[in-house]
Amino acid sequence: MEQYAVKGGNPLVGEVEIGGAKNAALGILAAAIMTDDTCTIDNIPDVRDTNVMLQAIESIGSTVVRKDRHTCEISGKNIIDQTIDNDYIKKIRASYYLLGALLGKYKKARVSLPGGCNIGLRPIDQHIKGFKALGATVRIEHGMIVAEADKLTGAHIYLDVVSVGATINIMLASVMAEGTTIIENAAKEPHVVDVANFLNTMGGSIKGAGTDVIRIKGARSLHGTNYTIIPDQIEAGTFMFAAALTRGDVTVKNVIPKHLESISAKLSEIGCQVEESDDAVRVVATGQLNHTHVKTLPYPGFPTDMQPQITVALGLSKGTSIVTESIFENRFKYVDELTRMGASIKVEGNTAIIDGVNKYTGASISAPDLRAGAALVIAALAADGVTVIDDVRYIQRGYEDFHLKLQSLGGLIELVDSEKEIQKFRLKTG
Ligand code: EPZ
Repeated sequence: MEQYAVKGGNPLVGEVEIGGAKNAALGILAAAIMTDDTCTIDNIPDVRDTNVMLQAIESIGSTVVRKDRHTCEISGKNIIDQTIDNDYIKKIRASYYLLGALLGKYKKARVSLPGGCNIGLRPIDQHIKGFKALGATVRIEHGMIVAEADKLTGAHIYLDVVSVGATINIMLASVMAEGTTIIENAAKEPHVVDVANFLNTMGGSIKGAGTDVIRIKGARSLHGTNYTIIPDQIEAGTFMFAAALTRGDVTVKNVIPKHLESISAKLSEIGCQVEESDDAVRVVATGQLNHTHVKTLPYPGFPTDMQPQITVALGLSKGTSIVTESIFENRFKYVDELTRMGASIKVEGNTAIIDGVNKYTGASISAPDLRAGAALVIAALAADGVTVIDDVRYIQRGYEDFHLKLQSLGGLIELVDSEKEIQKFRLKTG
């Protein structure tokens, strides 16, 4: 089983290229099968979740041609089956986008109930509410969600909670419905906007994405297109916090600084210097970090997907900080692992009270999920001694070449898969 061996202490310094947004890619790859023409999609991150999505769309008959590591040509022309049921698709949350896409195109879909990171209850009632409002029947049968309709008709849908997944899924299901659909209390995340832009380049008519009211005028059909996925806001934010924790100087390149505003603001608050240019952000950290308080919120608030990364930084900051998780109720599981590295954090319900310590110390720990795993890696890069992190497959779900990018910034990190390799790493890094 692969692990990361990390020796802390080196400040990260240099430039790092950020890849395409995983959560936009997942919606866009599902949307691409909604036309019988070919869509060429670029800047797809080469990570487990996107590869699972590509396998899933191939498994029902779509053609996927990989032009290079980040570019695919996808055609949904030869889809023969609207049932997606295999072991791998159950592991990714975004399998639910295939429900919206297949329902929208073929008026029927059968998809295994979604899995994904175990970060709390993750209901999909709002997706189902949307499909039903458009005229579909939805039932659960043998572990699968089955959605069917004679026809889909535009509707006015108010989301009871701001949900990225439900907003994208309703856009997919309604983009070819008859008439106009209005989604109120829609999610405003950059990846929602990216999926809407993609559907619009396919001939869809979606207005208002990025605000909380989205209007979708049903198109008769969709056509092929060429599209480049936006940069990954969370990958960028993770490297920005890695710079802060290691007292480094890192420029994240190929980003949209506007998408990073809440992250940049918190880094400035804790004492980092943040410089923005057109498509890059530089984070310089010198001296002790300061405490702050933060609450996760839907975009443009501070992202829940950055909560573990800011918590590990505040764990090494002067004074007491409070982090409130308002999106997922079970997203502090990594705190036990961080405690093994010397952090002083008390979790009460959805709040973590953090007493900053002077240093973390290397330990053997496990990545409990994707973002928490990445946060533990950056904690390890700032710790005294060697940390060995298990379950790196979670991190590989969403970060392409994570250890290689960290190495290029001077981080001492290796992918290892035996005790012997860990010993070799210990000897090599002194
Ligand atoms: C997306 O998950 C992302 N996943 C998550 O990223 C991210 O943490 C989350 O949005 C919030 O930004 C993908 O895009 C594939 P939600 P999603 O629906 O769509 C509740 C990562 O690390 N809710 O916006 O599943 C839900 O329980 C992952 O990359 C309902 O109650 O999240 C949560 O409290 C992890 N009913 C809140 O809404 C529903 O029908 C927001 O969830 C749907 C959601």
